[in-house]
Amino acid sequence: MVTAAQQTASAPDAARTFPKGFLWGSATASYQIEGAAAEDGRTPSIWDTYARTPGRVRNGDTGDTATDHYHRRGEDVALMAELGLGAYRFSLAWPRIQPTGRGPAVQKGLDFYRRLVDDLLDKGIQPVATLYHWDLPQEVEDAGGWPERATAERFAEYAALAADALGDRVKTWTTLNEPWCSAFLGYGSGVHAPGRTDPVAALRAAHHLNLAHGLAVQALRDRIPADAECSVTLNIHQVRSLTADDAGTDAVRRIDALANRVFTGPMLQGAYPEDLFKDTAELTDWSFVRDGDLRQIHQPLDFLGVNYYTPTVVSATDGSGIHTSDGHGKSAHSPWPGADKVAFHQPPGDTTAMGWAVDPTGLYDLLRRLAADFPRLPLYITENGAAFDDYADPSGQVNDPDRIAYLRGHLAAVHQAIADGADVRGYFLWSLLDNFEWAHGYSKRFGAVYVDYPTGTRIPKASARWYAEVVRSGVLPGA
Ligand code: FCB
Repeated sequence: MVTAAQQTASAPDAARTFPKGFLWGSATASYQIEGAAAEDGRTPSIWDTYARTPGRVRNGDTGDTATDHYHRRGEDVALMAELGLGAYRFSLAWPRIQPTGRGPAVQKGLDFYRRLVDDLLDKGIQPVATLYHWDLPQEVEDAGGWPERATAERFAEYAALAADALGDRVKTWTTLNEPWCSAFLGYGSGVHAPGRTDPVAALRAAHHLNLAHGLAVQALRDRIPADAECSVTLNIHQVRSLTADDAGTDAVRRIDALANRVFTGPMLQGAYPEDLFKDTAELTDWSFVRDGDLRQIHQPLDFLGVNYYTPTVVSATDGSGIHTSDGHGKSAHSPWPGADKVAFHQPPGDTTAMGWAVDPTGLYDLLRRLAADFPRLPLYITENGAAFDDYADPSGQVNDPDRIAYLRGHLAAVHQAIADGADVRGYFLWSLLDNFEWAHGYSKRFGAVYVDYPTGTRIPKASARWYAEVVRSGVLPGA
């Protein structure tokens, strides 16, 4: 049933003023924008290897050059300043800082981030650093990758190096971006690097990512000032049932455990959900969870980062294992271990160029649920946005009314969720720039700023100008 509040959230008409101090930002990730893949000591990450493997990434695209942000840093920070952004969420490339995943930091790699952070602070833009947005050093994968416990220990050492170098300037830290994708797309369905397709490896990866998070928070807290903040970003799935029956409700429960509670349980409550153990019992006894791990993982956080794009619709099935409409890419292998009896369905309504349904009520529901489940935990939307088939017209303008409509609808949902009690403190538009969209290569454009890849030229889209006005005024204009 659609509530009155949901209707309001999906049909914005009146102007809406956001709370004072609401943080407006934009987000990117290292592999998606930096390029300079072999410069200043950087070694290959799993994404370099994956992108070089024929058939993995559309058109054979790689992040070798990406948007060339490594060399255009100044220009990009100037663009952020023009947009009036209050914050910039970026990720650090582990293989740039600690190429083999062991030993001391490479100073040249760190210098890039030192300069970036200095440029941001100069312009009054708050740096929000993510330690891991999917570019695992290839050597760490070769030693077993996330399914192995040692990777979590390596990650904590890397976190310490990053905090030692940047902790005096970066006051907001995020350990992991969307560990669900790292574990289940990377090791389950194989549509992300490193492209393995082993359901048990995916579950082991999920646990070791949880452990990596907990150990990294401790490494950060030991080094950063008391007023600095630690967080994690999860792509919490808003799971809905296609059918109004018990089987549908159970399908939602099962996917909610695999998508969401596998992370929120240990990280925020100190325990894995019992139903997750039961659902996956035929695959593993979870003996890779050792005594004391949950205590290490369950660290106090200053906020939870939430990435949202589209809802997930499921139903119960006889076991034919239809998982390809889950919006996460086509594979013969499911990213949902133990969920063969769940089918995924395309939600109704308009779609973006990703084929993802546009549905701001999903974001509203998600925020309300998180506020109810974790009432004392502030929330930030660390990613939200849409890909459309943008192009520069003959006069050099990029008009993207669909993106403006998407942002308008989702910001209205955020506003409504705040009015209804959710403690949402900020919003980061994905993405600042068009960039390397993982297995889709450069074919999907999520940027507020258009990138002409052959020349690297940046053109702020109409949505960038629209967003800049929202940021400046703190008001979402009426439709
Ligand atoms: C998220 C990723 C981000 C980007 C968007 C579209 O899952 O965190 O890097 O690819 O999707």
